[in-house]
Amino acid sequence: MKNKWFPLLVMAVLWIFSGFVYAEEIINDTTQVSQEVQIQESLPPAICQYRTYVQNAGYQEWVSDGEDGGTTGQGLRLEGIEIVLDTQADLFIEYRTYVENFGWQEKVTDGQFSGTTGQGLRLEGIEIALTGSDSDKYDVYYQVHAQNFGWLDWAKNGESAGSQGLGFRLEGIRILLQEKGVDVPGETDRPYVNGNVKATYQTHVENLGWQEWKSDGSVSGSTGSSLRLEAIRIELDNQGYDLGVSYETQIENIGWQAAKETGELSGTEGLGYRLEAIRMRLTGTYADLYDIYYQVHAQNYGWMDWAKNGDEAGTEGMGYRLEGIRIMVIPKGMPAPGSENLPFLTNRIFAEYRAYVQNTGWQDWRAKGDLSGNTGSDLRLEALQIQVNNSGYDVGIRYQAHVQNIGWQDWSTDGELAGTTGQSYRIESIRLSLTGYDAKMCDLYYAVYTEGFGWLPWVSTGEAAGYEGMSLRLEGIKVVILPKGSSRPANMEQELTSMTRLVNKNHSIPASYEPSDLVVLSLPSTRTTMMRAEAAAALGNLFAAAKNSGLTLYCCSGYRSYQTQASLYQWNVDTFGLAYAELVSARPGMSEHQLGLVMDVTSASVGFDLVESFANTPEGLFVKNNAHKYGFIIRYPEGQTGITGYAYEPWHLRYVGTEVANAIYNSGLTMEGFYGMN
Ligand code: DAL
Ligand code: ZN
Repeated sequence: MKNKWFPLLVMAVLWIFSGFVYAEEIINDTTQVSQEVQIQESLPPAICQYRTYVQNAGYQEWVSDGEDGGTTGQGLRLEGIEIVLDTQADLFIEYRTYVENFGWQEKVTDGQFSGTTGQGLRLEGIEIALTGSDSDKYDVYYQVHAQNFGWLDWAKNGESAGSQGLGFRLEGIRILLQEKGVDVPGETDRPYVNGNVKATYQTHVENLGWQEWKSDGSVSGSTGSSLRLEAIRIELDNQGYDLGVSYETQIENIGWQAAKETGELSGTEGLGYRLEAIRMRLTGTYADLYDIYYQVHAQNYGWMDWAKNGDEAGTEGMGYRLEGIRIMVIPKGMPAPGSENLPFLTNRIFAEYRAYVQNTGWQDWRAKGDLSGNTGSDLRLEALQIQVNNSGYDVGIRYQAHVQNIGWQDWSTDGELAGTTGQSYRIESIRLSLTGYDAKMCDLYYAVYTEGFGWLPWVSTGEAAGYEGMSLRLEGIKVVILPKGSSRPANMEQELTSMTRLVNKNHSIPASYEPSDLVVLSLPSTRTTMMRAEAAAALGNLFAAAKNSGLTLYCCSGYRSYQTQASLYQWNVDTFGLAYAELVSARPGMSEHQLGLVMDVTSASVGFDLVESFANTPEGLFVKNNAHKYGFIIRYPEGQTGITGYAYEPWHLRYVGTEVANAIYNSGLTMEGFYGMN
């Protein structure tokens, strides 16, 4: 230790300086230099000795100058301490301890006891300072071994060491006295952990407005009342440190808003937009010493896992509101307040794939569960490329094909070719799985259309889709990546003529498609309209049931050809602009009306118009509560624009058959949500 070498060091310094002084004297008068040497010589050695009083063990041996006092690794608390100085200098030591339940004690000096004995009270902090006329020539350094942290960094000259507000005991201590100017004994960034740094926050809740400020992990907002958070303010009780908070929210219809700082409003007021996700980080020179943790209660998920330090929490692109939030600031080195596995989900991650087909070669890329290959054409898939459109998240894909005459090939990744080209070998089966850190946010499903069997059931990660050893070719494939926890896609018949054919902004139908079984409706109508026969009959039953309740429904708009939809969409763009048109009108090829399975219905009470207020008329309420019994769903429900892509349309009734309509109605989901497809 340093003190053993100190006399030698002093001698060495004197020897070097004496030579130096001698050389200088030869050249000129060096009184000045000699005086500096005098000051160096006059600094007497100073040694600090200390002993601790330890739980169960009582007084420990005296130790000195940086040696370990107390214990480490035994879970025993320090209860008291005595410190003495051995020096000829005019130097004294003064110290105080923070005692459990009592706080900071009176200062004591050289050799006096600080703390308690026989009361079982732990020391949590200590401050040690030098006094006397020579105190400006020395530094006293000290570091403590604290429960849950181990050795903290060195404090000096009266700074606090240990922790506050955490109830953690001191277990060991090192004290070191040295001359000013000597190298510091180690890291000095974090001698003391202030556990009283806290986040405080308030949220603006739908219908209720601004809530009381909450702090330190208590819930702001609500759980179980289905009310959206619309805005938030976050502040810190930073205990006087240079420490702030910066936060961003993702807002319905707006997206991620620019970062706000301590106390500013993030979100919106008075617009009725829900918050969907949030991220926050600490700022300032103390930011590295703390973690900020936050956890949200999200619609349809409940409490998600904890996010921290800028990670996203909530959902993205799924149309789910935040309902509640908890925020905690925790000193670095302490455990997370709960599971950190899955704080966030997004539907902005999707699969893209293309097939190399017998006689035709590479097809165009498909995505999100659309068919690649063909069905019913008897053409084999020979090769595949699959990749993930991951919106910047860390997700990739690996896949392998079981090929005629070859068997299982090696895995291919992220767009590499699987299968063969130019060899006329069929793919018979495939396996897929996701790669990358963010794959934990996703569920992967895939299905194949197989010779003689048609669509086989959807399978997931690592399962084989197709048959080995039966010499059956794959003809088509579809792949979906869904947010974790989504239900497995139903085995949806995606034929054009299927009653459950999904049509939306991601799934279109050919311009040439026109159902072959359209009939003109003989029901109250504002104009002549058509539907497919099965749907028309079902609509007749719904209208009759309404009539029984004394209500008259009117047909307004049924089947529309591709060309009719094209004109209608263009009219909307010309009249309202592109953004609004996209919200209320489908592009040609993307309208369910072209399926002949939709009727827009209306009533005299809204002047035979298609308006949102229809929802609250007796006719609108009847439709809302009864349409499913006759095989219809309200296809674009309120508040689901994030999923359907369209504004609320209480009048747009989509026929899917009674079984599916009942199931969708009871699930509370959109058609996309029900089938697990975007
Ligand atoms: N109004 C619906 C979205 C359509 O145009 O099909
Ligand atoms: Zn419609």
